[in-house]
Amino acid sequence: MNTPIGVFDSGYGGLTVLKEMVKVMPDYDFLYLGDNARTPYGTRSFNVVYEYSLQAVKYLFKQHCPLIIFACNTASAKALRNIQQLDLPTIAPDRRVLGVIRPSVEKAAEMTENGHVGVLGTVGTIISESYPIELKKWSDQRVISTVQEACPMWVPIVENNEIDSEGAEFFIKRNIENIFQKDKDLDTLILGCTHYPLLLKIINKYIPEHVEILDQGQIVSEKLSEYLQKHSELEKRISRNANIEFQTTESAETFEEKAALFMGQQLKAETIHL
Ligand code: DGL
Repeated sequence: MNTPIGVFDSGYGGLTVLKEMVKVMPDYDFLYLGDNARTPYGTRSFNVVYEYSLQAVKYLFKQHCPLIIFACNTASAKALRNIQQLDLPTIAPDRRVLGVIRPSVEKAAEMTENGHVGVLGTVGTIISESYPIELKKWSDQRVISTVQEACPMWVPIVENNEIDSEGAEFFIKRNIENIFQKDKDLDTLILGCTHYPLLLKIINKYIPEHVEILDQGQIVSEKLSEYLQKHSELEKRISRNANIEFQTTESAETFEEKAALFMGQQLKAETIHL
């Protein structure tokens, strides 16, 4: 029986994290779940994101995942704490659910030289204030200023495969100009949504050269690998046959087609119901 690491996102964005995880931990088994039928999560209320995320967690536990990674900033910002504190103790005290915000914050605090950090994210992630709060908590006062910009059009651009369109260029340019207007001294930028690395080609065009962009997929994967080394009792329960499964709440064919573009390889997907 496979006991994979569950990787969850509202759609395709989490694939940017999965891709890096597979590079860092190639022999582990992974089960990717995209809730494409209900994407985007970024504009939904706290209660709805919590409800959807909890359904995904329960489903992935039924698929025997000892550990789940929310490869989604919105779910990490709006649902993770409640699930860890209120649900896990009763539904699965011996399993773990981890998110992407804490490792990103720790890394951004290390990266910034002048303490000016910018966060681009979905409306939900930005309104939750998770990044500024966590940056304050974990940066040991190295981060003196955090500015944020919600980019509500970016996820639909990715989900609808409009990455190379003029529309993508228009919205990305506008949001980046906005965040630099809020703080022209930014030296570190967090792409606080796992969909955004898919837009990097355009993002890079509008960002001053000295500004560093945090690569969330890579950071989360490295931190996860360190976490598993420290938690060997959990690590031992994850199967290691280098097997990756893909599941979606929408059409499997559409998922296979689009996900292959993002992963850079052909893959098979299955439709499931939450
Ligand atoms: N990829 C997600 C994130 O990191 C979710 C985006 C969305 O569904 O709006 O926030």
